[in-house]
Formats: sequence, C-alpha cells, structure tokens
Amino acid sequence: MSRLDSMIRRLEAQRTTLNDAVARVRDRDGVALEFGLGNGRTYDHLREAMAGRDIYVFDRQIAAHPDCIPPDDRLYLGDLFETLPRAVADLAGRAVLAHMDIGTGDKAESVALSRRAAPLVAQLLAPGGVVVSDQPLDGMADFSPLPLPKGVKPGRIYLYERI
Ligand SMILES: C[S@@+](CC[C@H](N)C(=O)[O-])C[C@H]1O[C@@H](n2cnc3c(N)ncnc32)[C@H](O)[C@@H]1O
Repeated sequence: MSRLDSMIRRLEAQRTTLNDAVARVRDRDGVALEFGLGNGRTYDHLREAMAGRDIYVFDRQIAAHPDCIPPDDRLYLGDLFETLPRAVADLAGRAVLAHMDIGTGDKAESVALSRRAAPLVAQLLAPGGVVVSDQPLDGMADFSPLPLPKGVKPGRIYLYERI
C-alpha cells in the first residue's frame, strides 16, 4: 500500500470513528475535549458534528488554519502535563467525548505520551464518556475498549469507554 493510500485510510478511520463517538454521546450533556489541535482538521470536524457543544482544546502551540482556532476561554495552551492538572480543576467529570490525537510520528514516544496523559484525561471524563485515540490505551485502568465502527480496521484508531 502506498503512503498516500495508508494516510487516506487512517484519515477515513479517524473520521468514521469520530462520527461514531459523536453519535454515542449525542443525547448526553457534557463538554468535548480535543487533545492535539495541529492544523485544526479534527477540531473543525467535531465543531461541525457537535454544533452547540463546548469543545476544549489542548496543544502546546497554535499552528492551525486561522478559521480553526478555538476561543481563548476554551483553549489550554502549553505542554499537556502543565495544562491537564488545571483542566482537571476546571472540568473534572464533565466531558462526554475526548479525542486524543497527540502522536508525534515516533510510535513508541506517541504511545508513551498517550498512556502518560490517559489517567488525567480519565479524570476529565464522565462515566460512560467515549475516547477516540490515535494510540492504544489497552489494559489501562478506567478505559474499556469499544467495538470499532464497521469498516474500520483494528489498529488504525482506538475507541474506549470511560468505566
Ligand atoms: C497529529 S497533531 C494533531 C492533528 C490535529 N488533530 C488535526 O487534525 O489537525 C499532534 C498535535 O499534538 C501536539 N502535542 C504533542 N505533544 C504535546 C504535548 N506534550 N503537549 C501539548 N501538545 C502536544 C502537537 O503540538 C501537535 O499539534
């Protein structure tokens, strides 16, 4: 498979799984969380798919398309391990959806980063909240795997429920 095909499949899996997660929480009150603003692609998608819901966004920098920059009062700017404790103080237990997309390109580093952040992310989520992650969180306390939507190949993206 070419690198282009592989990227397209990864993005399709991401969009399909985000849409599935959004549908799962449609009838629940609560905020959404985007970890990794990047160029704002998935934030923009969630913003459309969850119109009217507050989405809090985490990144160490703003490098997004100008149309995809969150309002200041919903942005946690800085290293995750500095901003997450502040977010827990503000929002503990209030999130129904979290999208973790903080991969760096180095697989081992990305898995370690996500697993280090996961216990803090868990504190932000309400029980039954849903997590879409670009890295596996299998075997971690607080997270139980959910079946991926039809057509999404295991290993491309991960879906969990906050226990
Ligand atoms: C793959 S990009 C996100 C892509 C984005 N979701 C999109 O669709 O455009 C990963 C982002 O995670 C951020 N990131 C990685 N490690 C971080 C850390 N420790 N603290 C804060 N942000 C971090 C990077 O700055 C980068 O913008």
